[in-house]
Amino acid sequence: MRKPIIAGNWKMYKTSDEAVAFVDALAGKLKATDKADTVICPPAPYLAALVEKSKELPVQIGAQTMHEEVEGAFTGEISPTMLKSVGVEFVILGHSERRQYFNETDESVNRKVKSAFEHNLTPIVCVGESLEQREDNATAAIVSEQVKKAFAGISETDASSAIVAYEPIWAIGTGRTATAEDANEVCGQIREVLAELYSESAAQSIRIQYGGSVKPGNIKELLSMSDIDGALVGGASLDPESFAALAEAG
Ligand code: G3P
Repeated sequence: MRKPIIAGNWKMYKTSDEAVAFVDALAGKLKATDKADTVICPPAPYLAALVEKSKELPVQIGAQTMHEEVEGAFTGEISPTMLKSVGVEFVILGHSERRQYFNETDESVNRKVKSAFEHNLTPIVCVGESLEQREDNATAAIVSEQVKKAFAGISETDASSAIVAYEPIWAIGTGRTATAEDANEVCGQIREVLAELYSESAAQSIRIQYGGSVKPGNIKELLSMSDIDGALVGGASLDPESFAALAEAG
């Protein structure tokens, strides 16, 4: 049985005060439960403070991206060791917004995934097709290629602890969710690719999230699907009440 994992990707939202207030509010709402793991991925300036603040809560903290090198002349970038040094445990890699606006490619995502494992960070590896690709019936091919390239050179032991997030680009922030069946079908295809790359047992241990307009109102149905093991949530993760409801649904 895979334990569901609900991760909130705050993207570029919230001031420092709002971030702290969110965790304070969550304290009264998020019950320690074995039902789901929960992760909050705030903007980088608040990572250290939220790691400290979340220590008493059943929630872990993740970053939204990172550079693959440990240090160097890379203005504006954040390294895996910097994340580890403030207590970050997870890192979202290859989000479609990073691919679209910051030139991330399957190759650079692969370098980051390797680096995350080298530094004991758990990567949340994002894959997903555009609307055009879906309409061309290219979803399976695109997603499978993204998974193969992201995991190139990653050992089975490392891969087994990875999290994959299937986020169809056309469902992100649009209010348009993939049907639970469609999302499950692609998550199942991702698991088949992982079984081909590694083994059936590795594929069965990797948690695959769905992301794209997930809300308290649709999380239960999504989580009832055989191959959906959690959610990567944008908009609905910004409100403590709604984040707690998502965590409860796990
Ligand atoms: O990474 C989460 C994401 O891109 C989905 O965003 O706002 O559709 O839940 P949203």
